[in-house]
This record gives sequence, structure tokens and C-alpha cells, in this order.
Amino acid sequence: MSPHLQPLAVYPGSFDPLHMGHVDIVHRAVRLFPGVLVAVLANTEKKPLFSAEERVALIQQTFLQYPQVKVTSFSGLLVDFMRVTGARVVLRGMRVVSDFEYEFQMALMNRRLCPEVETVFLTPQEEFTYLSSRLIKEIWTLGGDIRGLVPPPVQAALEQKRGTSP
Ligand code: PNS
Repeated sequence: MSPHLQPLAVYPGSFDPLHMGHVDIVHRAVRLFPGVLVAVLANTEKKPLFSAEERVALIQQTFLQYPQVKVTSFSGLLVDFMRVTGARVVLRGMRVVSDFEYEFQMALMNRRLCPEVETVFLTPQEEFTYLSSRLIKEIWTLGGDIRGLVPPPVQAALEQKRGTSP
């Protein structure tokens, strides 16, 4: 990661792809923190729809108007990445009750691994609480309409992917 990035809050995730729920969380975060670093997990077990580089580029395009939002990818443990950035806040979105168990587990494990880091949960606008990257991918794969559920750069990339896929 380049040394000029000194984010105060890190928003980690798979973002495969970024959807409007994520965008809403970033919009809320920039009102609370002077800098937000969106951190794309690169070494996921799952085969992603978009490569880490593509996801970083799509998120950068989405937040072009926000100089306080930076985007990068990371691999390995999130707490190790936090140590490298020097940031103390992990941001996560909490949509519905079913998110709670997974998020609570991760927050407590990260606290055990690195007590200096705090996890802060933000809730998205109600209209985005049902959104998930998994559902977006499923609907897109089956030819459904995902307009308005993802930001324009992601919509364009999905359309291009459909155009180029066999
Ligand atoms: O968007 P996701 O898939 O819910 O994001 C999950 C993510 C990337 C935040 C989480 O899987 C993660 O932090 N992975 C990095 C590896 C790690 O630190 N694992 C231990 C978490 S307690």
C-alpha cells in the first residue's frame, strides 16, 4: 500500500460486486470519518466474479467525487492489514439480524487478535437492507434486472461481462 494513505477508518469486504448497500455505508462513513479506506479482500477461497484489481477499479470509479475515499486490496489477516495502515477503526455494515452472529464473531476475534482495533457498525438505508452481493450475482447470472441495485460502473461492467461471456 502506498505510504500517503493514512485512513482513519477501513471498510473491508469482498465487494464482489459492490452494491448500493455498500455505497450507502461509505456515504455515511465519510460524514463520520475524515478518511475511509475501502479494502478489497483479494485472497478469497471463492472464485470471484470480478478479480481484485477489477473490484478496486470499480470502487474507485464509483467514488471518484470523494477524495477522502481511497481503495486498495489486501490479503491475509485483516488485523495485519490494519497494523500496516495504522488505522484503528474497522467499518462494517449491519443489515439484518442474521448478519449479527457472523459480524459479532468477527469483531470479537479481531479484537482478540488486535485489541487496539475497534469495529464500528453502520446500518444502511432500509431500502438496501435486503441487498447482498450473492443475490446480485444470482439475479444477474439468471438474466434478472439489477438496475438501481449496483452503482453505474458496476452495472456497466456487468453488462460488458454478459456481452463477452460465451
Ligand atoms: O464482504 P465479506 O465477504 O463479508 O467480508 C469479509 C471480510 C473480508 C471482512 C473478512 O472475511 C476478512 O476480514 N477476511 C480477512 C481474513 C481475516 O482476517 N480473517 C479473520 C476474521 S476474524
